[in-house]
Amino acid sequence: MSERNSSTNTAIAIFASGAGSNAQKIIDHFRGHPTIKIGLIVCNKEGAGVLSIAKKEHIETLLVEKERFFRGDAFVPELKDRDIDFIVLAGFLWKIPVKLIQAYPNKIINIHPALLPKYGGKGMYGNFVHEAVIAAQETESGITIHYVDELYDHGGVIFQANCSLDKSDTAESLAKKIHALEYQHYPRVVEEVIKLRNRS
Ligand code: GAR
Repeated sequence: MSERNSSTNTAIAIFASGAGSNAQKIIDHFRGHPTIKIGLIVCNKEGAGVLSIAKKEHIETLLVEKERFFRGDAFVPELKDRDIDFIVLAGFLWKIPVKLIQAYPNKIINIHPALLPKYGGKGMYGNFVHEAVIAAQETESGITIHYVDELYDHGGVIFQANCSLDKSDTAESLAKKIHALEYQHYPRVVEEVIKLRNRS
């Protein structure tokens, strides 16, 4: 039986497929937190940087494979077995299957490296987003933190922050500005959303 008091304690699963720099910031933010902990790192890519972070931080990992994720049980039993309450996507590039959304209604959030609804959708991730923003000669970009629904980059917006762009910006320099915004806001917004949920 779990020792956690489910009304106040929350275990997060971070889903990430890449370097995991946002995952690292979220782990750092909740280190020693009295009621919120990172219970699991879920990844779909062997050798991804986030797996080394999980190892270093002694956080359990779950490597998910496509067939079962999209056409099976979406690994929901593994998440429930580990008492996961809330899912934070941090550079996880697969669409979230309906089974997982139904198992965690309004309990999955994502960060997107642009000001949605612009520059979202399938194939819009990482530097592809920044390249599109630069090509369109936008004067600003930013981050969007939103709930996850059945469509890519579509659920209700929780928070946005922007940064300005000038003519000398490249996809790489924009990526740095975006990452700085993500690190500044994502861990804090995750905590606020969870605290609000636990209060209601
Ligand atoms: C982040 O910039 C995140 O916004 C983006 O992937 C990056 C992951 O970096 N996510 C998307 O593009 C989702 N559509 P990280 O692995 O260093 O945290």
